Amino acid sequence: MEENLRFKLLSAIKRAEEVEEKVDIVLKGQYLEAYELLRDSEDAGLTPAIVGPPGVGKTLLCRYYAKRTGRPFYWVTLDENTKPSHLIGAFNPAVVLDKGFSLEAFEPGPLTLAMIEGGVFVANELNRASEYVQNVFLEPLEERSYYIAHVGRVRATDEFFFIASMNPSELAGVHRLSEALRDRIHVWIALSYPDRDTELEIVRMHCRRYNLPKDVLDKVYTIVSRTRNHPELEKPASIRSTIAIAKLVAERARKTGNYDDDTIAEAAFNVLVGTLKARPGIRVEAVAKSIIMEALKHKR
Ligand SMILES: Nc1ncnc2c1ncn2[C@@H]1O[C@H](COP(=O)(O)OP(=O)(O)OP(=O)(O)O)[C@@H](O)[C@H]1O
Ligand SMILES: [Mg+2]
Repeated sequence: MEENLRFKLLSAIKRAEEVEEKVDIVLKGQYLEAYELLRDSEDAGLTPAIVGPPGVGKTLLCRYYAKRTGRPFYWVTLDENTKPSHLIGAFNPAVVLDKGFSLEAFEPGPLTLAMIEGGVFVANELNRASEYVQNVFLEPLEERSYYIAHVGRVRATDEFFFIASMNPSELAGVHRLSEALRDRIHVWIALSYPDRDTELEIVRMHCRRYNLPKDVLDKVYTIVSRTRNHPELEKPASIRSTIAIAKLVAERARKTGNYDDDTIAEAAFNVLVGTLKARPGIRVEAVAKSIIMEALKHKR
C-alpha cells in the first residue's frame, strides 16, 4: 500500500479505537433495569438475551456493560449468510501453505477472541442465523469451550460473557431460534421505546453541542411518539430518528435563527419518510405528513 494511504488507514484505526473508548449512555428507567438484569444473570452464571425493536439501545447497553466491567467488546450481526468461520475464525490459506495447520496460521474470529480474552460477546439477530450456525453456540454456552479442528479444545476464561440480542417481531418468523439454543438462554430482557423523559434526555445528550429549546424537543418527541402504535404503520420511528430530527432542526436553526414549526415539520418529514414502513397499500409519505401536521397542531 502507498505510504500516504497507509498512514491514513492507521489514523483511521486509531480514531475508531478512541471512539470505542467513549460510551455515553443515559442509564435510567428500563436501561438501568436491563443493566442490573445483565449483571445478575452473569453473577448467577445465566445467559441473557435482550429483545427489542431496532434502535432502542440494545447494542449500546451491551457495549456499556463491557466497558463498565473493563472487558473487551465483540459483536457480530448474524444472518443466513453467516458461516461458523465468521465466529470461530479460520486458517489463513497462504500461511497454511508455508507452515501447515499450525497455530500461527489460525486467525481467531470474534467468538474465539471473546472466549480467550474474557470479553463480552453479543450475537445480534441470533435468530436470523441458520440452524447450522446457531449450533456453534451450543458448546460455548453449555461447556464454555469449543473444539476447533487442528487447534484443539479452546476453553473460555471466567470473564467470557455471552449476550444474545434480537428483534421481537422476528422471533416468530421464518428464521426461528432453534429449540436447543432457546433452551440455553435463560433470562429474557425486554427493551422497548423508553418513556418520554428518558428519550428526551437521550436526545439532549446526543445534541449537547446545540442548545435546543425545550418546546422544540417536545414537538420532535410528540411527532416521533405518534409513529409508535400507529395503525397504518408496520415500523415506527426509533430513537435514532428522534436524534436525527432534533439535530437537523438544530442545525437549520443555527443558520437561520428560526425554530418555527415549518423547520420542525421539514426535518421530521425528511427523516421519517425513509424510516417508517407503512402497511400494504398505504403511502408512507401521506402517513408521515399527517402525523407531523396533527402533532404540531396539538402542540401549538
Ligand atoms: N440509553 C441510551 N443512552 C444514550 N443513547 C442511547 C440510549 N439508548 C439508545 N441510544 C442511542 O440510540 C441509537 C440506537 O442505539 P443502538 O444502536 O444501541 O440500538 P439497537 O437496539 O442496538 O439497534 P439495532 O436493533 O438497529 O441494532 C444510538 O445512537 C444510541 O447511542
Ligand atoms: Mg444493535
